[in-house]
Amino acid sequence: IKKIGVFTSGGDSPGMNAAVRAVVRACAYHNIQCFGIYRGYEGMIEGDFVEMDARSVKGIINKGGTILKSARSKEFRTVEGRKKAHEQLIKAGIDALVVIGGDGSFTGAMIFNQEFNFPVMGIPGTIDNDIYGTTHTLGYDTALNTAVEAIDKIRDTASSHNRLFFIEVMGRDVGHIALNVGVGAGAEEILIPEEDLGLDRLLESLRRSKKSGKSSSIVVVAEGDRIGKNVFELADYVEENKTEYEVRVSVLGHMQRGGSPSCFDRVLASRMGVKAVESLLDGKSNYMVGLKNDVMNLTPFDQAVKGKSKINMELIRVSDILTV
Ligand code: F6P
Repeated sequence: IKKIGVFTSGGDSPGMNAAVRAVVRACAYHNIQCFGIYRGYEGMIEGDFVEMDARSVKGIINKGGTILKSARSKEFRTVEGRKKAHEQLIKAGIDALVVIGGDGSFTGAMIFNQEFNFPVMGIPGTIDNDIYGTTHTLGYDTALNTAVEAIDKIRDTASSHNRLFFIEVMGRDVGHIALNVGVGAGAEEILIPEEDLGLDRLLESLRRSKKSGKSSSIVVVAEGDRIGKNVFELADYVEENKTEYEVRVSVLGHMQRGGSPSCFDRVLASRMGVKAVESLLDGKSNYMVGLKNDVMNLTPFDQAVKGKSKINMELIRVSDILTV
């Protein structure tokens, strides 16, 4: 391997820049050329590449977003799109790839590898933490801290006005963010896709909390929760069903994807970048790098994508106990 291409793909997450920096610098350390590919698979198809040396990634370890930009490419889902991308890589002499992204990006990389036998290595970058094979994806820790900080602020106003707040956090299919920030911010209830609390139990719990003397309350709702109502309908339903709380809704949204990465994410990104480059140089391909028990490891792409990242059931119990 002589030239590695690195790109960020799918929804961005804090720590992506730190990972790009780590890949570029690990390449420089091992005397490998490194190319940045702009806008993920879109830029690959268009040949939008830039050569990157160790100095080109200075001052980005602490920056949110991704200097390489990101996109969700429709064209790359087609055979023609992937063929174009392959031609562009060959033309530029790029002979291996590091993809920083989530499950959709890994699925693309896996298919590309099968079709062209092109060496690929993945770094899990998504705030959702919904990838099997790593206890933490890049950006997850930062997103947790961002969300907790926001909820703390909402709690101030909730408490001043004796209000119940429904706060929606991100997590398309999983409840990792909701569960952790729910416990971290002391929420009364946490609604996640993995566990359907049901409307009756929710009402019951809120009435009980009102009776026990709690004048204000926070319910954290995962975006992908399956209680059957969106967060606004849920708030209306609760207000109409005499929980005796005045109800408000706050959707935290994309703020959770931005901001300077936490120290944890910066360190994780640095380790993952080095591991990805060195694994490619060791002749490995079609794997995702991940963290387990503080050790870096590799998981085949198909397992990373298909496997389930399980939520920590202990946290549900802890939350139940502490909201007594
Ligand atoms: O996968 C990360 C994520 O932020 C999800 O939590 C959310 O559902 C989705 O991306 C939003 O995607 P977009 O930015 O394309 O609206």
